[in-house]
Amino acid sequence: MNIEQLIASVQQQVVAWRRHIHANPELSFQEIETADYIAEQLATFGCLQIRRLTPNSVVAELQGALPGPCYALRADIDALPIHEQSDEVCCSTKPGVMHACGHDAHAAMLMGAASVLCQLRDRLKGSVRFIFQHAEEVPPGGAQELVDLGVLDGVAMIFGLHVFPNYPTGEVLLKPGVFSASSDNFDIVLQGKGGHGSQPHLCIDPVVIGAEIVTSLQQIVARKLDPLHTPVLTVATFQAGDSYNVIPDSARLAGTLRTHSQQVREQVPALVENIVAGISQAHGASYSINWTPGYAIGNNHLDACKVAHQVVASSCGQPLQELPTPMFGSEDFSSYQQQVPGCFLFIGSGNQQIGATHGFHHPRFKLDEAVLQVGVKLHVGFIQHLLIS
Ligand code: NI
Repeated sequence: MNIEQLIASVQQQVVAWRRHIHANPELSFQEIETADYIAEQLATFGCLQIRRLTPNSVVAELQGALPGPCYALRADIDALPIHEQSDEVCCSTKPGVMHACGHDAHAAMLMGAASVLCQLRDRLKGSVRFIFQHAEEVPPGGAQELVDLGVLDGVAMIFGLHVFPNYPTGEVLLKPGVFSASSDNFDIVLQGKGGHGSQPHLCIDPVVIGAEIVTSLQQIVARKLDPLHTPVLTVATFQAGDSYNVIPDSARLAGTLRTHSQQVREQVPALVENIVAGISQAHGASYSINWTPGYAIGNNHLDACKVAHQVVASSCGQPLQELPTPMFGSEDFSSYQQQVPGCFLFIGSGNQQIGATHGFHHPRFKLDEAVLQVGVKLHVGFIQHLLIS
């Protein structure tokens, strides 16, 4: 069989894997049964060295017959705390847990690619590392954990795919360079002095102080940073008080910073503190600020993008489309890209005819299973391009 026939021959199996994983979703950091299932299936191929760096992830290595470099392919495997309302035949069997970001498809596509590449082992000049990674959805994320455990040791380059329902199946998209934002969260606690709502002069009202801070924080975006590199700074939580006539003692503000510039990422915390400190001090309140660092900025390496262009043109029958702007979403694939050159591509998975039109994390998110073959083709294509002459 030639490579195309091999890919076609695993198609039915890839659909079955995807449906099993979709029907049995597990939340981030709890993907033990999913990882067990993937490892069991991979073991049946007979030629993979399987490691479990964590109980909820799987790393499988295919040693080619000939010596050469090692390339990594990554899929994420975790689901979301969403109650599925799609009409998928393989609808979630777990109330309140759902694969609504296509990670079930990512896992199945990579399993399919592993199956095909095992059958091409005699022609491989190097090795392939298949990474089935846990916890993409929840910082600090599974990618960093695996990187810290050495998952990239000896890896020359890494590729990852993500389905994208906003584009029709068959289209492949890439944003060269920076493609995703960093995401850091902050918690601010304002300590005032509570009292009766009718006696504000005897209190230090953290609600009014907090309101002033929320408004002033937008000055950072509007007036403190280069307008070509403005971040998103969102206060998403404002908690204080629980009554009509009690001025509360304290208030909590929490939110997120998203940016495509590492310099801005490093600048903003001090600017936030200036504002919080200044306003709190002016009104006699005290404060604390705590930042929880999230994912790094995703950056597609130009060498890896070049490979992607050639592979998409030869295996998908249509050119790779370049996205003009990065997204403000974040993706922990960036943890790998901080270590080795890597490229993260989006593969269209939308199909109006079957109702696969809902966006990520929607309870009616639905997958056009035709995308599975595109994913297998691309994963196999990267390795064919790099390790088979
Ligand atoms: Ni996702």
